[in-house]
Amino acid sequence: MLVIIKDDYQAISLEAARLVANRMHKKPNLVLGLATGSTPLGLYGELIRMHRSEGLDFSKLTTFNLDEYVGLRPEHPQSYRHFMRQNLFDHVNLDPRFTHVPDGMATDIEDHCLWYEQRILAAGGLDLQILGIGANGHIAFNEPGSSLGSRTRVKTLTGTTREANARFFGADEDVPRYALTMGVGTIMEARELLLVASGEGKAHAIAASVEGPITAMVPASIVQMHARAFLVIDRAAAAGLKGAYASSFEEAVITRRKL
Ligand code: F6R
Repeated sequence: MLVIIKDDYQAISLEAARLVANRMHKKPNLVLGLATGSTPLGLYGELIRMHRSEGLDFSKLTTFNLDEYVGLRPEHPQSYRHFMRQNLFDHVNLDPRFTHVPDGMATDIEDHCLWYEQRILAAGGLDLQILGIGANGHIAFNEPGSSLGSRTRVKTLTGTTREANARFFGADEDVPRYALTMGVGTIMEARELLLVASGEGKAHAIAASVEGPITAMVPASIVQMHARAFLVIDRAAAAGLKGAYASSFEEAVITRRKL
């Protein structure tokens, strides 16, 4: 796990986008895992800027989103498919046929989850998975207590997650109770992970995930077991960390060579 601490939200967005763009240059047909939520917005904004002004090419990319609310149609303004269209898909040259978001309206949910896993495998597996982290340590919608080996499935959202997401809905009771989510095991099979976190609200979850014991009660702590996981976080989110960490990918690589 390679932790990189930047000054603020803008700096983590740029650093994270730099890593994604680097992987896209190296492998134009990258299989990229995407997250929703507020944190990756700056990263997506920077990728859009790179597409417009530097010609960053998305045409051969395949994408898989982490999760989707059960019961929301793709065109629902709070659905994650809609979120991705608004914040990335509609602004770059991704081929819509190569973008995947779990279908919250699937009639046979179990079958759909199996299909989603099979699609990831058929695409060659996830090269790089972008992740946010919940204040309770969740990754995707794998809430505390999720099996660390879990696969794509339906999960009941916790009260705290529904409260955290209520800001996007008119009223608390409008927040869906269930979501389809890649499992922790599915995420851990990605060849690289890029977790972004910002703000003091994430400090506790980051400290528990980076320096605490690996436990299903903090699903993000399993990232410690990943051979190529990058955490790009700002000072506020790093406030609970005790160890010394790098401030850029370059510095992190030099430190590793020294070791
Ligand atoms: C969204 C997702 C969630 C978020 C997490 C943090 O696809 O997988 O795990 O990453 O809830 O959300 P924000 O970034 O809004 O704080």
